Amino acid sequence: MTHSLPWWTDAVVYQVYVRSFADSDGDGLGDLPGITARLPYLRDLGVDAVWLTPFYPSPQHDHGYDVADYCGVEPLFGTLEDADTLIATAHELGLRIIVDVVPNHTSSAHDWFQAAIAAPPGSAERARYLFRDGAGTDGAEPPNNWKSVFGGDAWTRLGPGEQWYLHLFDSSQPDLDWRNPEVGDLFEGVLRFWLDRGVDGFRIDVAHGLFKEASLRDQRRPEKPAKTADSMVERVLTDEPMWDQPEVHEVYRRWRRVLESYPGDRMAVAEAWTQTPESMARFVRPDELHQSFNFAWLSAAWSATAFADVVRDTFAALEEVGSPPTWVLSNHDVVRHVTRYGGGAVGLARGRAATLAMLGLPGSSYLYQGEELGLPQAAVAPEFRQDPLWVRTGEEGRDGCRVPIPWSGQAPPFGFGPGTEQPWIPQPADWSGLTAAVQQDDGDSTLAFYRRALAIRRDLPRDVIDTRTVQVRTEGDLLTIDRGPLRILLNCGREPVSLPSGRVLLASATLEESTLPADAAVWQST
Ligand code: NOJ
Ligand code: MG
Repeated sequence: MTHSLPWWTDAVVYQVYVRSFADSDGDGLGDLPGITARLPYLRDLGVDAVWLTPFYPSPQHDHGYDVADYCGVEPLFGTLEDADTLIATAHELGLRIIVDVVPNHTSSAHDWFQAAIAAPPGSAERARYLFRDGAGTDGAEPPNNWKSVFGGDAWTRLGPGEQWYLHLFDSSQPDLDWRNPEVGDLFEGVLRFWLDRGVDGFRIDVAHGLFKEASLRDQRRPEKPAKTADSMVERVLTDEPMWDQPEVHEVYRRWRRVLESYPGDRMAVAEAWTQTPESMARFVRPDELHQSFNFAWLSAAWSATAFADVVRDTFAALEEVGSPPTWVLSNHDVVRHVTRYGGGAVGLARGRAATLAMLGLPGSSYLYQGEELGLPQAAVAPEFRQDPLWVRTGEEGRDGCRVPIPWSGQAPPFGFGPGTEQPWIPQPADWSGLTAAVQQDDGDSTLAFYRRALAIRRDLPRDVIDTRTVQVRTEGDLLTIDRGPLRILLNCGREPVSLPSGRVLLASATLEESTLPADAAVWQST
């Protein structure tokens, strides 16, 4: 076993959605002391690091991704001292801490935006954001045809006769103008603030945003949207003057220098929804970021060839830049994978199988809180939905994957907080069988399965990270990956398949007479 690789190369990182993890003060909202108290659970689960979603002062229009002050703590979640305690406790337990940084936009409550709307057009205050005059008569039309990710126009007008400002997300999230050097300086200060407090890394929100094509020209949109192709090779690329501009990479070169000026292996991971594996790879060139989320794995259909294509395309793109891969199945923005894979017993079986395949791959894996309990997407009644996507469009939105964790007990709030106060979104009453407490004592539970997988994973040889030595093949619905002495088999078909010879290290389902059932995966030592 070699320890020369930096920790993040093959780390398992657990994402904590701060408002939904654990509530210490009984107000129905998760908070920092709640997380600190549950860190031993994460140590026992066997993860290497914890990524915390934004806990900074924020009006919470997008649950913290609307930051009003990058160097503080939202009072609903605790204090700066609570953040220090969390970081120190994590380090004592051998866990690293990654915090979120949100550089594409601020909250409209940020001092800068408040100063901008108080200042006249053309002022230095407005030049930190993307204010423009409108088009059409009296400037009554938005400056271009861009749409917000959360629906509707990406522009909001300050008032009649006034300018418009760009927001690729909610109108409470004005986009910064990264061509203004003040913006880069602000964020260097933010990184240093949290690095000085001891964090081990950053997750960079909308990392592919930041720069827009300078002309702010219209987006060319085909009349008929192209069909989504399964294989990434056939993919039809969209015209995106608002995303993934070449200038963004200079920002990450600067951030890399900042990170390297600190002791320890401080790192950063990009949330970049790029269109191709090659564009993902550009974020992790040797002088840029350490990792980028590989959303292709999360987006793959339940098929051996789809998974094999993702693995091969990922390896090929990353080998060009010499960077190790990352893998992810769920996060706070997508439908939980148990439900994506069909829900019920089949969804859970497939979810466990895809997890085992993922955790066996070289590189780093990101887990989302609650997936270790096999939580499905929850149905959230309209009156409880808070996602700005729902508010702006009436689409169901992302609240169903953000329901608070059921820790213990027979009825909501399932130990989420100290009392009987109900959490900010109700938990389904039938989650009593899914609590951490119930699964803790059940050797066949999904929690026990994750723990075993992570424990075995820790003992795998760490030097087998070179993706060029990994063999990926499919035979019908069976995916086989050979990585050094580890063989991963994933059966995406409807029939059991017979297992090749080899010692079984762990299976996602019960194996009978050396066959691998449908919707199951196994690790073998060859
Ligand atoms: C990506 C985050 O993951 C998502 O939750 C958020 O709404 C957008 N970025 C905007 O910050
Ligand atoms: Mg609380």
